[in-house]
Amino acid sequence: MLKIAITKGRIEKQVCQLLQENGFDMDPIFHKDRELLIETKDGLSMIFAKANDVLTFLEHGIVDVGFVGKDTLMDSDFHDYYEMYDLNIGKCYFAVAAYPDYRTKVLKRRKRIASKYTKVAKDYFTSLQEDVEIIKLEGSVELGPVVGLSDAIVDIVETGSTLQANGLEVIEKICDISTKMIVNKVSLKFKRDEILNLMDGLKGEKEKC
Ligand code: PRP
Repeated sequence: MLKIAITKGRIEKQVCQLLQENGFDMDPIFHKDRELLIETKDGLSMIFAKANDVLTFLEHGIVDVGFVGKDTLMDSDFHDYYEMYDLNIGKCYFAVAAYPDYRTKVLKRRKRIASKYTKVAKDYFTSLQEDVEIIKLEGSVELGPVVGLSDAIVDIVETGSTLQANGLEVIEKICDISTKMIVNKVSLKFKRDEILNLMDGLKGEKEKC
């Protein structure tokens, strides 16, 4: 059995859809109720978890393969895996966003940056050699500038409509984000064929092999 952890929600739907389209029987997944572990006829044992937990399961060798957004990978301190395949879905980007006057405002104190992704924010401003104060928010990060908690945010932008609705704009794009297939390094040694077969399934090349 190839053990897989998938980020619950949108990534789960998109990955399972792709596999279904390419010959894997995903019916047990589409018809699941509240079960968290499902085994398919194709020899896949799938669990559905929060993004950070997908990494935890992979790190501890509980699963061989994980499907998770690049945002989660970038914000984690765990990097001991192979990033095998970019699914090119769930596409968005990290950006610094703020009110337009952020560009010209001169501050006599450290800039305050709100983010759910504090490591990404810290790494970005460190790369600019800027010493900023990072403030963690769990969601609706745009509230940072709106309520005056922060001067800017580091957040995910997909359509840009949340920024626009709150009078904010992208100051600087940091990097692109999409869904990645990651693989436990030991698993690749021992389950190479199953892992490559799954990857071919995602690429739509399963039948050719
Ligand atoms: C994400 C992100 C932005 C929004 C961007 O939040 O943090 O708030 O989506 O999308 P847009 O560019 O299409 O408007 P999410 O909806 O995941 O919820 P959260 O704010 O609670 O994290």
